[in-house]
Amino acid sequence: MLKKNNSIKLLKYYKFINYNLIYNNKAINRFKKDNFEISEDKAKSLETLKNSIINQKNCDLKNQAKNIVFSDGNPKSKIMLIGEAPGANEDQEGLPFVGRAGQLLDKMLLAIGLDRKKVYISNIVNYRPPENRRPNPKEVERYLPFITKHIEIINPKILVLLGSTAMNAIIGNDVVISKMRGQWIEKKFGNCKTSVLVTFHPAFLMRQPAQKKMAWIDLKMIRDKKNKLKI
Ligand code: URA
Repeated sequence: MLKKNNSIKLLKYYKFINYNLIYNNKAINRFKKDNFEISEDKAKSLETLKNSIINQKNCDLKNQAKNIVFSDGNPKSKIMLIGEAPGANEDQEGLPFVGRAGQLLDKMLLAIGLDRKKVYISNIVNYRPPENRRPNPKEVERYLPFITKHIEIINPKILVLLGSTAMNAIIGNDVVISKMRGQWIEKKFGNCKTSVLVTFHPAFLMRQPAQKKMAWIDLKMIRDKKNKLKI
């Protein structure tokens, strides 16, 4: 028998490690990290989407990768960022933007008062293309329904496309980033109506630091829109 003092200590410990002693028959919400408590419907939709990506047949990208890179950040966020494809670090960790480009992305977000707890991040394709090459048009076409569904589920008010692969996949192939960046366009994905902004990919900014001043203009546009929409 546990003494009363010990059981109080044990309960305090369970509370501390967030361990729920009471069993119930609610679905396990795997997206419930930090305070990212989302509706069961949203958690279920994300889980279903992730499983449909994992369960694809005959996908070379998937077969050559170590891990699926589904998303990071807060699924409740009204700001969603989409990159190109996971690299070696992301493949290893199963999370987007954890390598050098990710470190720059974190700094860019921080400059406008954001971080990974305040945004949601994914990529056009969810598996690392070998040798860090760009995903080819066939691969983009294959993954486009998944990322479109992903946007619909997250339902962001602001959608930021990082780089030309994300821009061409989501907006179309007849646009170039030098002309598209720095302007808001409105787009619908199912029931999700969102303001879309294209900006440079952080990996491009590492190669072309002179373009950071343009990226700063875009970041300030995101900050202003976020304030205007009271996000
Ligand atoms: N570049 C991307 O586009 N996505 C990542 O997740 C990492 C690097």
